[in-house]
Amino acid sequence: MSKTCAIILAAGEGVRMKSNLPKALLQVLFKPMLTWVTDAVKKNSVSDICIVAGYKADKISEYIKDEWEIAIQNERLGTGHAVKCALDFLHRHKESQVLIVSGDVPFVDSDTINESLNTHLLQHNSVTVISAVLCDPLGYGRIIRDDNNCIEKIVEEKDATASEKEIQEINSGAYWFSAAALIDSLSKLTNDNAKGEYYLTDTIEIIKKAGKKVGVHVAKGEEIALGANTRIQLNKLNEIARKKELERQMLQGVDIPCTDGVIISANSKIGNDTTILPNTIIKDNVTIGQFCTIGPNTVLENCTIENGTSLSNTVVKDSHIGNNVSVGPFAHIRPDCDIRDNIKIGNFVEIKNSIVDDGSKLPHLIYVGDSDVGKKVNFGCGCVTVNYTGKYKYRTVVKDGAFIGCNTNLVAPVTVGEKAYIAAGSTITRDIPEYSLAIARSQQIVKENWVKEKDPYK
Ligand code: UD1
Ligand code: CA
Repeated sequence: MSKTCAIILAAGEGVRMKSNLPKALLQVLFKPMLTWVTDAVKKNSVSDICIVAGYKADKISEYIKDEWEIAIQNERLGTGHAVKCALDFLHRHKESQVLIVSGDVPFVDSDTINESLNTHLLQHNSVTVISAVLCDPLGYGRIIRDDNNCIEKIVEEKDATASEKEIQEINSGAYWFSAAALIDSLSKLTNDNAKGEYYLTDTIEIIKKAGKKVGVHVAKGEEIALGANTRIQLNKLNEIARKKELERQMLQGVDIPCTDGVIISANSKIGNDTTILPNTIIKDNVTIGQFCTIGPNTVLENCTIENGTSLSNTVVKDSHIGNNVSVGPFAHIRPDCDIRDNIKIGNFVEIKNSIVDDGSKLPHLIYVGDSDVGKKVNFGCGCVTVNYTGKYKYRTVVKDGAFIGCNTNLVAPVTVGEKAYIAAGSTITRDIPEYSLAIARSQQIVKENWVKEKDPYK
């Protein structure tokens, strides 16, 4: 197999997006367009990637960390100039086939990348353009073919004649080049065109004139070419990706009776016979088991939910929730929670950085933070772990089978022993031994006939 590498063009600003981010970092289904592209490229085992960044290049380097090489294009002089900015990378990959793709055309898929590479190698082409046939080709470069149906050149919209504009086969902006032919043709580019830019597309004609083979791989469908110049178009890309992901999940056995407001990111795993209800947003890195009910009005991010669990009107982030757990309505599971099996978490409950072990119940109006809660613990309504002194945070430990009466404050650091029992309204500041009763509130005083004698309503 021949060696491969990729250059991703992402120096553009995307003026009409009116964003503080470079266009390639704007998101489709919670994932930057650039990552859609790198994911598809990586899937084909192309691991040497160079990203050409320019506008807000620092944001791109910050985002990709050191995963890939970055070449900087200081001024936007066109796609050909952008590739020239990666010459150093190209020289180091002289023997390779180079895939060139745009960082803002997110639906370039790994199958097309793979099939077009096969075409490229089989036909011994020096460049293979990935084209698509569009109902509305407006704005794209058109593929001009000669009498033998071979590609002759690509003409940009602005440079096209009226009859060329009729052509529906367009340049998707993705190509396979032999690196050597590309390097050679880049040195011959001029900016003699309507936009005054160095067009990468002109390399096709240059390579052909040099007597080398140029070819086209026609992609299936239109999606491969879709990009976005405005937020309205970005919304269209989101809608396409959203619908596709929902259909993929439904075909895998996930029940989505009404898709209104349901957004599922493309890398989520959901078990069959799980139901997703309206207004549920499943962001990055979520795994859900079988026979769960998720939603309505639920947001999940970076978490695992096991089987048979239901979450209603709930937000969960960076956490694990076990089997047969019932959460909500109106609960918030904040980062670093491990909620194990057969647990009830009811309305208006917030849990953060805590373990809650099997069979415990936290049914109403509770805050548990920085805590280790054992098995079969019962929290009464309105309990609070007092985890923060204003400067330091401490942990609360509640051992198995403890009963925390309503409206108890557990002032951390504190440990409630196994099967200990706390009277309602207590503020607990000292450890409670196992099997003990703790009452930490002032004694009730009753003054008989006080109302009649003092008459407080006078
Ligand atoms: C380009 C193609 C066109 C094709 C279309 C598909 C050229 C001359 N035209 O046109 O044939 O149909 O893509 O989407 O290549 N970029 C840089 N630096 C620059 C200019 C662009 O990095 O100086 C990047 C952009 O960020 C973008 C990509 O290159 O990711 C494509 O540039 P864009 O200006 O969108 O090209 P189009 O005019 O759409
Ligand atoms: Ca474009």
